[in-house]
Amino acid sequence: MDLLDKHEHLAERHKLMLSLGGNAVGLRMEKILSPTRAIIGGRETILAGTNNYMGMTFDPACIEAGKRALDEAGTGTTGARIANGTYAMHQDLEKVLSGYLKREHVIVFSTGYQANLGMLSGLAGPNDTIFLDADSHSSIYDGCRMSGAKLVRFRHNDAADLDKRMMRMADEPGGRLVVLEGIYSMFGDRAPLADFVALKRKHDFALMVDEAHSLGILGDNGRGLAEEAGLEDEVDFVVGTFSKSLGAIGGFGAGNHRLFEMIRFASRPYMFTASPSPASIATVTEAVHQLMARPELRDAIRRNSEQLYRGFKGLGLELCCDTVSPVVAVRVADEPTAIRMWNALVNGGVYVNIALPPGTPNGTCLLRCSVSAAHTPEEISRVIDIFADVVAPDRGALAAAG
Ligand SMILES: Cc1ncc(COP(=O)(O)O)c(C=O)c1O
Repeated sequence: MDLLDKHEHLAERHKLMLSLGGNAVGLRMEKILSPTRAIIGGRETILAGTNNYMGMTFDPACIEAGKRALDEAGTGTTGARIANGTYAMHQDLEKVLSGYLKREHVIVFSTGYQANLGMLSGLAGPNDTIFLDADSHSSIYDGCRMSGAKLVRFRHNDAADLDKRMMRMADEPGGRLVVLEGIYSMFGDRAPLADFVALKRKHDFALMVDEAHSLGILGDNGRGLAEEAGLEDEVDFVVGTFSKSLGAIGGFGAGNHRLFEMIRFASRPYMFTASPSPASIATVTEAVHQLMARPELRDAIRRNSEQLYRGFKGLGLELCCDTVSPVVAVRVADEPTAIRMWNALVNGGVYVNIALPPGTPNGTCLLRCSVSAAHTPEEISRVIDIFADVVAPDRGALAAAG
């Protein structure tokens, strides 16, 4: 039997996608002009589907820091953190993040994906149980599997469901870890953190929050959902990525536990991969300073999110979330409609993410927009206008999605 025969259905699905227009899952950006503009298909296009929440990718100080690091430390570390991959700058970034996050310990990983693999497999083992929200990001699912822990999925954002499942598992030996996200990446909704924290008084568990999409954005200082909710002391472990509000690549885990540092020696995704390059570490370190020093970035992203959200509501679009966040996801009836509309949006001059099952909750098809502090009000208005043009002929399909 041919090993790849099992992917025949993927080939069929991809062929259908191409027959409906461009390659929605392999789009080529010919030239990046700014955090909010690129040349796509020979045309200047507004980017409304990146995770460049703070517009850091073109920040002059970050670029300068990256160039300096290239000159002074070279292109890569060529080794893992426990071997030759820990430079002074990796430890300096851990210290800067520790100060910013107000957590005693921070471990820098090579990507956000690996931060979840590394933290979850470092925290939990085969004798433990991880309770995870059903809508968790794939890196959380994969980290749970890697840990070998028993997995219990609870209904999305439903603390009562978690309570029920914990009661059923009350006699299970081993430790318990509950995993939530600050802002969920597909729908843009937040975990009702206070409801979950209330359960900590009833059940004994550790709480980890992945603040990938909320870092830099939520809370007065941008420390994420836990800061916004005033519940940082109740969150035992924080995970985050450098690939969104910090505009680079890498990730981190943070916490105050006395044995936290031992995760470095218990986590294969930390031990067996090369550490982030000097340029990445330098730009991220500068970007963290910017998050601390420029609260106006948070004001800008909140204003822009509000403008896009209200504009889409005004068009009668079916949005996946009833609170405003930088992720604004439009529900669409089915895959062919999503592909058709995505092509029309790109042809109209705006790039958004197309999000399809199995990468989405409950088999939904989405046109996922994300807002940047770097968008101008005019760019947001233009995105809304292009959606209006595209939606008009497809209104029936959108209504069917509701
Ligand atoms: C919630 C969440 N966690 C982790 C990650 C992984 O981060 P990275 O893409 O930086 O590896 C993502 C990426 O989208 C995410 O949405």
